Amino acid sequence: MKLSVSYLSVKKRDVADVISLLDLTPVDFIHVDVMDGKYVSNKANQFSFVESIGKFTRKRLDIHFMVSKPLKVIDDYALLNAYCMTYHVDILNDLNEVIEKTKSYGIKVGLAINPDQDIDVIMPYLDKIDLVLVMSVKPGLPGQKFIPEVIPKIKKLRKLFKEEKRDILISVDGGVNLDNKKELKDCDILVSGSFITSSSDYATLIDKMRK
Ligand code: DX5
Ligand code: ZN
Repeated sequence: MKLSVSYLSVKKRDVADVISLLDLTPVDFIHVDVMDGKYVSNKANQFSFVESIGKFTRKRLDIHFMVSKPLKVIDDYALLNAYCMTYHVDILNDLNEVIEKTKSYGIKVGLAINPDQDIDVIMPYLDKIDLVLVMSVKPGLPGQKFIPEVIPKIKKLRKLFKEEKRDILISVDGGVNLDNKKELKDCDILVSGSFITSSSDYATLIDKMRK
């Protein structure tokens, strides 16, 4: 099980320190939540900020765009050490174009589905994507409670990918902690934010989450 840690709940002035600490742990990825104030009401992780904190880690970034028009910023974020870039299906840009542009940089591409969206919305893109991010909270804020109703969606996706022999990763994001981890065995990558960053011992929790 891989773990991607989101620092969204960390105060801006502390982010560099938190990232430096995470760099010393076996965490697999740093999850970067980009918000444009349009797709979701908050703004976070504009390019210049992410670029500035990138120097505090050698970990690869798992960039989650909660953005209506990502096309105009892909070229910038692609300069960073990104493992994967994930977009929501209900954005204003043409998704095929977004997917192609991301792939042109050799970066994996993911699609995110919100708690109230069915897995049907990603079906037309399965031949083109590397990852599905199942949102287990409403996008926009850290520290929300995990919505257990998304678990059947994860199971359905796992079954489908197995049957169709598809090499697509499944990730889950929002309210993930040690309690609900045991119900998330069908996932390849867990995204966890405040559960990790609010603790005083990242390494121990990260170890437990990755097992
Ligand atoms: C929610 C974000 C999540 C969130 C994770 O919009 O996409 O990545 O910050 O943080 P926790 O684990 O605190 O829900
Ligand atoms: Zn996220």
